[in-house]
Amino acid sequence: MTSLSTKVAIVTGAGQGIGAAIAHTLAAAGACVTVNDLNPDRAERTAVSITESGGQAIAVVGDVSNKFQCVNVIESTRDQWGRLDILVNNAGIQPRTSILKMDEWEWNRCLEVNLKSVFFMSQLCGRVMADENQERGGVIVNIAATAGAVTAWPNRSAYGAASAGVVGFARECAREFAQYGIRVNTILAGLIDTPMTTQALKDEALQTAVSANPLQSIGQPDAVAQAVLYLCGENGRYLTGTTLIIDGGQTIV
Ligand SMILES: NC(=O)c1ccc[n+]([C@@H]2O[C@H](COP(=O)([O-])OP(=O)(O)OC[C@H]3O[C@@H](n4cnc5c(N)ncnc54)[C@H](O)[C@@H]3O)[C@@H](O)[C@H]2O)c1
Repeated sequence: MTSLSTKVAIVTGAGQGIGAAIAHTLAAAGACVTVNDLNPDRAERTAVSITESGGQAIAVVGDVSNKFQCVNVIESTRDQWGRLDILVNNAGIQPRTSILKMDEWEWNRCLEVNLKSVFFMSQLCGRVMADENQERGGVIVNIAATAGAVTAWPNRSAYGAASAGVVGFARECAREFAQYGIRVNTILAGLIDTPMTTQALKDEALQTAVSANPLQSIGQPDAVAQAVLYLCGENGRYLTGTTLIIDGGQTIV
């Protein structure tokens, strides 16, 4: 079993859904986890649930599309645990508006939360992980969507564009950060059962896609969390710059 004992991780948007599953899984493997979320109740709930299960976690509220709040998330982590080894860029939103109707604010907000936050957090955590005065190295895992590469659901233009941006940025990041012993990989998830998809599944197109999924109707957050664990642990040591699709075979053509 993968051990992350002595490792310190930040998981963004970990108050519910995929992020909460990732935070639980990393903590169960021994990592000390900073549970970040924009929503204070959700952040607290995940952190408490981890500590009640015997793991180590703190909640740090913050909007990761804001650079100053990103700094606070990272500094709170270092104050609490003294180091930083793993960053999981998971926070995201999914506006569902047609291109013809979308206004600039909605487009910008999606790109800020889903893509700019990945730049802020990767840059700021990268500086800590690359610091030659510390034990160098680390792991960054980004959670994006198959919409960024291979699928196109109706009314997801900003979401698809942000995910595609994450894929491109992560490859550059992997290339630049390799010299510091920092690995960077991206997971492209298909349909996963979370509060985000509860709403989205009202779309007829998505219901059709779910019923046609080769493996199962919809994925569970733990399927993504287990892949994150693999990428973060020693077994993933030769992986960087990759994108891993977790979609139950939805994108088999
Ligand atoms: N659920 C899916 O089918 C699916 C598929 C592909 C990719 N994803 C991606 O996985 C990630 C998690 O999705 P989910 O389904 O668990 O979503 P979710 O909406 O259930 O949970 C997302 C969490 O992120 C938090 N959050 C939102 N904006 C934030 C911000 N600016 N700063 C900090 N926290 C913020 C929310 O408060 C929420 O608790 C997202 O990036 C999403 O795009 C999800």
